[in-house]
Amino acid sequence: MNGRSFEIAVLPGDYIGPEIMRAGLAVLAAVSKNKNFDYKIKELPFGGAAIDKDGDPLPVNTLKECQDSDAILLAAIGGPKWDQASKRPEAGLLEIRKALNLFANIRPTAISPAMQKYSPLKQIKKIDFLIVRELTNGIYFGKPREESEQAALDTMRYSATEIRRIVKIAFQTAAKRNHHVTLVDKANVLATSKLWRRIANQVAKEFPEISFDSCYVDAAAMKIISAPEKFDVIVTENLFGDILSDEAAQITGSLGTIPSISRGDHGPALYEPIHGSAPDIAGKGIANPLSMINSVAMMLDHSFNRKDLANRITDSVNKTIEDGTTTPDLGGNSKTTVVTNAIIKRIEEN
Ligand code: NAD
Ligand code: IPM
Ligand code: MN
Repeated sequence: MNGRSFEIAVLPGDYIGPEIMRAGLAVLAAVSKNKNFDYKIKELPFGGAAIDKDGDPLPVNTLKECQDSDAILLAAIGGPKWDQASKRPEAGLLEIRKALNLFANIRPTAISPAMQKYSPLKQIKKIDFLIVRELTNGIYFGKPREESEQAALDTMRYSATEIRRIVKIAFQTAAKRNHHVTLVDKANVLATSKLWRRIANQVAKEFPEISFDSCYVDAAAMKIISAPEKFDVIVTENLFGDILSDEAAQITGSLGTIPSISRGDHGPALYEPIHGSAPDIAGKGIANPLSMINSVAMMLDHSFNRKDLANRITDSVNKTIEDGTTTPDLGGNSKTTVVTNAIIKRIEEN
C-alpha cells in the first residue's frame, strides 16, 4: 500500500506459542508475496521467554517496540515453568493490554459449512456472533488486591466512562453486522453490573436501529450452548468475557481455531489467539495453527485494510478443513506444519 513498509511486532511467547507463530508468519509471507504489501517483522521477547532472558515478562524495549509498530502479533504466553515466578508471564499480558489501552477485545465465533461436522452441538443453525470483552479494567485490575495465608481480596470496579466506550464499540460493531447487541452481566447481584445495565440502556437509545437486550451471565452460559444462533454481538466485562469466550470457542469444535483483536481508540492493535500456550501438547508438532493464521487474516483486514489478502487466507483455511487436513484437536492426524503447508499451497493456487 502506497509503497510503505509496515512494521509488525511479533511476540512468539511460550510452549506452543513459537510453533503457531511460525505457521502464522509463513502464511503472511505467502499471501503477501507480489501483492504490494511490504512489511518488516520485529521479533521480541515477551512472557515466560522474556522472564528467562530479561527477568521481566514485558521488557521495556518490547513495550516500546510494540508502541512504535503498526500492529502486534502475539501467539501465547505462560505455563507451568513460571507458575511460581514472583512476576508471572500473565502479568506481562495484563500490563501490555493496559499500557497500550487495548480496552476492546473482540472474539468471534462463527461456524463455516466446512467446520459444521466438528461442532459438539447436535443441531447447527447459522452461528455467527462476536464477544466484545472489556479488557483493561474490572476484577483483573481492581484495587485493593490483597493476599495472605488466611484471606484474599480482589476488587471489581468500573467507571461509567469505561463502560460507555466499550458498549459503544459493541453497538458500532453490530451496526456492521446483524443489528443486535446483548449485554451479559450479573445485575441481579453485582453493583458493577447494575451500572453496566444503566449505561448500556443509555447507549442503546443512541442506536435506535439496533435491537438490545440483556442476559444474566449464568443464563448466557446456557444459551451459548442451547441457542447460539440468537446472538449477534455480546458485550461484557473482563472476567465474564474471558470465561464465555472459551466456552463459545468450543462450539466450533476447538479452542485452537479462534483469533482475536484487542484494540483501543488509537495506536497499534494486537492480534492473538484466544487460547493459551497449551503446555500439554507443546513440542509435539500438533498444535492447531488456525487460531494464529486467522489472527493474521484479522490483522490484514483491520490494521492494514487488506480484506483481499484476509479473504485469501480464510478461503484457503476453509478449503483445507474441507479436505480433512486437520490437527488432532479437530479429530485429524495432520501435524501443524502439514496443515500450514496445505493452506500455503491453496494460497499459491488462488
Ligand atoms: P490453554 O488454552 O493453553 O489450553 C486449554 C486446552 O486447549 C489444552 O488441552 C490445550 O492443549 C488445548 N489447546 C489450546 N490451544 C490449542 C491449539 N492451538 N491447538 C490444539 N489444542 C489447543 O489453557 P491452559 O492450559 O489453561 O493454560 C496454559 C497457559 O496459558 C497458562 O499459563 C495460562 O495462563 C496461559 N494462557 C495464556 C493466554 C495468552 O497468552 N493470551 C491465554 C490463555 C491462557
Ligand atoms: C486470555 C487469557 C488471559 C486472560 C490470561 C492468560 C491472563 O486467559 O487472554 O483469555 O484471562 O485474559
Ligand atoms: Mn482466557
